[in-house]
Amino acid sequence: MIDRIKEYLKEVEAFNSTEIQEIEAFRVSYAGKKGILNGLFAAFRDVPAEEKKAYGQELNALKEAVSIKIAQLQKEAKSGSGKKQIKDPTRTAFPIESGNRHPLAVVKNRIIDIFTQIGFSISEGPEIEDDWHNFTALNLPAHHPARDMQDTFFIQTDPDVLLRTHTSSVQVRHMENNQPPIRTISPGRVFRNEAISSRAHCIFHQIEGLYIAKDVSFADLKQTLMYFTEALFGNSKIRLRPSYFPFTEPSAEVDIYWGLETETDYRITKGTGWLEIMGCGMVDPNVLENCGIDPEEYSGFAFGMGIERIAMLLYQVSDIRLFFENDIRFLKQFKATL
Ligand code: PHE
Repeated sequence: MIDRIKEYLKEVEAFNSTEIQEIEAFRVSYAGKKGILNGLFAAFRDVPAEEKKAYGQELNALKEAVSIKIAQLQKEAKSGSGKKQIKDPTRTAFPIESGNRHPLAVVKNRIIDIFTQIGFSISEGPEIEDDWHNFTALNLPAHHPARDMQDTFFIQTDPDVLLRTHTSSVQVRHMENNQPPIRTISPGRVFRNEAISSRAHCIFHQIEGLYIAKDVSFADLKQTLMYFTEALFGNSKIRLRPSYFPFTEPSAEVDIYWGLETETDYRITKGTGWLEIMGCGMVDPNVLENCGIDPEEYSGFAFGMGIERIAMLLYQVSDIRLFFENDIRFLKQFKATL
């Protein structure tokens, strides 16, 4: 009999739980009305006289151990100190790292924000285009020599179908479907059949802008560009160099003054201090007419820039290919930029 009590004592000491229900079940099985302790006390009668003393001592020790155990476990369960770890077998063993936006998306969103703040809408169009929207409507009829300015990927079976070489095609679509006033920017991916190098890629991204209303002048264009460069680069010192695009007349390339303070400044500006950031001009009246807008009544300006080029300037990235390699060590560096 005494051995039984000793067994129970071991069991009581070994018991552990943080679950209220389990602790309660333990309490009932030992200290309940029909529990083990009461059973052992009832059996006291039948214990031989010479064993009664030892039996009583052991039984009291067991009773004491049970009540200490219950009090201790109840206290722990209440305070939550013995709280069980949540067991989730699907959880990874490594810390989960949060991702971040791609640098091109960061720059694109910043440019979009700058223009939507002054009332520009966002327009998008297909990457697989027809000849009309990518070239002909933009004052680039078949066999026009300026088509060579943008080496094009054609879909072999149909010369009318191609991968758009600029998002000006989106502006054509927008003009065809909307009457002035028009204020829109067209971000998107474009394709050119060019050899890949540190400065050029056959796939890249553009944002082009278009503003058409009554009496829009070159001064409006310049003011808009100054607002933009001030907002993006914190610098509105720009210059416009005469240039040629088939869809604008007059046309210009926009340079921003970068400065000549460091060796890098010398290198990237080729010693001039100026950096080219985009092309622009007044929309050619032929283009307006092609898109169903009366050039006698309306005029407008357009501009277009490469997102990779802007990102390379902003973050001093020297190789365009880094944007497409998805090397996590490169992409991680843009974590702080949202
Ligand atoms: N579409 C031209 C390009 O891709 C950029 C541009 C847009 C130039 C609008 C002038 C006006 O090179």
